[in-house]
Amino acid sequence: MNLGIRGRKAIVCASSRGLGRGCAEALAEAGVDLVLNGRDAEVLARTARELREAYGVAVTEVEGDVSQPEIQKKLLSTCPDADILVNNNGGPPPRNFRQLDREAILAGVTQNMVTPIELMQGVIDGMIERGFGRIVNITSLSVYTSIPGLDLSSGARAGLTSFMSGIARTVANRNVTINNLLPGKLDTDRIRVTTKFGAEKAGMSLEDYAAQQDKQIPAGRLGTTEEFGKACAFLCSAHAGYITGQNLRIDGGLYPSAF
Ligand SMILES: NC(=O)c1ccc[n+]([C@@H]2O[C@H](COP(=O)([O-])OP(=O)(O)OC[C@H]3O[C@@H](n4cnc5c(N)ncnc54)[C@H](OP(=O)(O)O)[C@@H]3O)[C@@H](O)[C@H]2O)c1
Repeated sequence: MNLGIRGRKAIVCASSRGLGRGCAEALAEAGVDLVLNGRDAEVLARTARELREAYGVAVTEVEGDVSQPEIQKKLLSTCPDADILVNNNGGPPPRNFRQLDREAILAGVTQNMVTPIELMQGVIDGMIERGFGRIVNITSLSVYTSIPGLDLSSGARAGLTSFMSGIARTVANRNVTINNLLPGKLDTDRIRVTTKFGAEKAGMSLEDYAAQQDKQIPAGRLGTTEEFGKACAFLCSAHAGYITGQNLRIDGGLYPSAF
């Protein structure tokens, strides 16, 4: 399918690896010029080079923590007329909620709620003016169902979801959409961290715990960053202007709900 976004410009936050990279790659394949972001300059530069070489699109790197105001400013000034914003960030480390002090809670809320809101504020008026905009927030299945140790992540992302839900309805008539992608269990570095936490908590070996986890997923396996990225690219496509305010679970059927 021609996604109809060749030549559009996207800011993809936290995109040097994992799900962000999957989204960036699918957008690059559709001909979108990219601003990529990540904290490790070497990994970021390698990803940027690979995407340039594979897809021939313009790729600019913005190194640094996307939660920091100066990095957000840099992202926005590097791409002042973004057509697409993919909000992504690291998640808070898995932790028993009793161990979270105020500083840790505020850091988690800044990462997974405040930062995407600030970036949305930075791009949305230009999108409205130009009559095209696609904002996709990578949140988590933990918005729907609790995951042990990820309470802070769940709470911050649920707050983001509600905040964005209202905004989505105010901009839909300008062909600006806001949707959330909810990863279940996808094969990235992050899932290895949360799997290790789960295995330790369950007193199981990493291999046995991982195998047990795979069995619980109706698809019988972890999802791939490619599958995730393609879903993101479709939500960013010219064809998705009538899809807004939605939460799309990419979870291989893990969340057992009919709706
Ligand atoms: N994978 C899953 O199954 C899953 C499930 C539910 C939710 N999620 C959530 O989805 C998001 C992406 O997860 P992932 O699995 O793709 O993680 P990942 O494999 O660890 O990749 C994270 C990416 O984000 C970058 N990054 C992390 N913190 C950053 C920051 N503060 N500023 C800029 N870039 C940053 C990393 O690069 P640097 O480290 O170099 O900065 C890397 O490129 C996370 O919020 C995660 O909690 C993932």
